[in-house]
Amino acid sequence: MSDIDKISTGLEGLDEILEGGLIPRKAYLVQGGPGSGKSTLGFHFLRQAIDNDENALCVTMVESQESLRQNAANFDIDLSEVVTLDLSPSDDVSENAGQYNVFSSSEVEQGPIMEAVTEAIDEHSPSRVLLDSFTMLRLLNQDPYQMRKLTLSLVRYITKRGATLMMTSESLSQNSDDDAAFWVDGIIKLDNSSEWRNVSVTKFRGSNFSGGKHAFRITGDGLTIFPRLEPNNYSRKFEDGQLSSGIKGVDKLLNGGIEKGTTSLIVGPTGVGKTNLGIQFLKEAASRNERSAVYSFEESKELIMRRSEMINTPISNMVEKGNLKIMPVEPLSYSPDEFAKIVRKDVEENDTRIVMIDAMGGYHMAVRGDNTLERLHSLTVYLQNMGVTTLLLNETKNVTGHFTTTNMNASYLADNIIFLRYLEVNGHMQKAIGVLKKRLSDFEKSIREYQITSEGVKVGKKLENMRGILSGYPEIGT
Ligand SMILES: Nc1ncnc2c1ncn2[C@@H]1O[C@H](COP(=O)(O)OP(=O)(O)OP(=O)(O)O)[C@@H](O)[C@H]1O
Ligand SMILES: [Mg+2]
Repeated sequence: MSDIDKISTGLEGLDEILEGGLIPRKAYLVQGGPGSGKSTLGFHFLRQAIDNDENALCVTMVESQESLRQNAANFDIDLSEVVTLDLSPSDDVSENAGQYNVFSSSEVEQGPIMEAVTEAIDEHSPSRVLLDSFTMLRLLNQDPYQMRKLTLSLVRYITKRGATLMMTSESLSQNSDDDAAFWVDGIIKLDNSSEWRNVSVTKFRGSNFSGGKHAFRITGDGLTIFPRLEPNNYSRKFEDGQLSSGIKGVDKLLNGGIEKGTTSLIVGPTGVGKTNLGIQFLKEAASRNERSAVYSFEESKELIMRRSEMINTPISNMVEKGNLKIMPVEPLSYSPDEFAKIVRKDVEENDTRIVMIDAMGGYHMAVRGDNTLERLHSLTVYLQNMGVTTLLLNETKNVTGHFTTTNMNASYLADNIIFLRYLEVNGHMQKAIGVLKKRLSDFEKSIREYQITSEGVKVGKKLENMRGILSGYPEIGT
């Protein structure tokens, strides 16, 4: 199937979803509500023809040629070389007399439209045709039989002459396009009614495609599409080995360290030192020139750096050398697909070996959308397949009291679980660290003192005579 010669839609992300692009000389429908980005997608499609040194034809039925070019120019898409057939209703009929504008009255017959289109096709032999919009054509032609006859002959004519046809349709439901949905070769749906704009392919005759919803964004550069991450499409060979924390006590608990390419959950209440513990692993890696990235959903880069310096973990050097990237992520800033794309870039282009997500609660806030936990799971599986070591930090709700690994039931994501706790021992507040789970090796079942001092993170003696630490009501004695 991959042998089919496909053509680019003009949008990298969409080509990826369509497993290479559109099959040429076929008809495609772009469906979506008002302002969902249909025309803009069409602009990218047309522009690709110009970039390929081919001709392109735009049949515009809603906007005038002028406003269409202007709209495209707003997205930095130059359509001046695209042949435009302006069938939009004009305010001054005489002005357009003799031109392509055929709607001088509300009565529209198929003759003039068909004639105008075939004439333009014959004259310019475009490789791509955009009809914006199919809905307008339908509105102008209420007779279903006539409409079908007109569109089918249009489609046949256009595709037989070697062009690929894209038509925009405003319908929100399949209903109003019911017959068109049958005879077009592909349907691309744009949706701007949910949290993030998303695109989905619901039909693509003759080819496979990536199903489901994929986020996209409209910016001054037009559409950018972020295909949903399919973690099992990725793999990379990597060297086994352990990642040490550089702190004896922590490494002891972990039976040497964290295995590379695994996912570890660091859980604990607010302020107990999760970020600081995570940074220790990154610092160790940086000393071997391995690159890490921290996606900080809670603190600024400056704050993380300053706090690390304060506990004798200088990281500004690592940041300067490029061994550590700290990227603050604002709430509500990305869709899960877009965030995954950022991480992918760091991994695939910048050779990032360790990823730290600080913290999961913030991820859920920042990366809003459906099933964020599922998306985070895909991301961790992807990272695993790429041999990247992942640290997921997760805040437990209760500072003391009953111990739950995660608020979001996310422990299944993790190969390793390290927990941090506050304890009250003899009237003093103390911190403790322990390991709850380790998939690839044995681990120390004890709980140790955990201290953050101006000299660094320290892990002290085993808290041997404590019990009930996990339940949150520690007592001395056996
Ligand atoms: N510079 C920009 N940055 C971000 N979004 C933009 C920008 N310019 C336009 N938009 C958005 O692009 C969308 C318009 O896209 P487009 O005209 O392609 O939609 P459409 O589906 O063709 O709409 P219509 O139903 O009106 O034909 C709007 O939602 C608008 O808010
Ligand atoms: Mg439009």
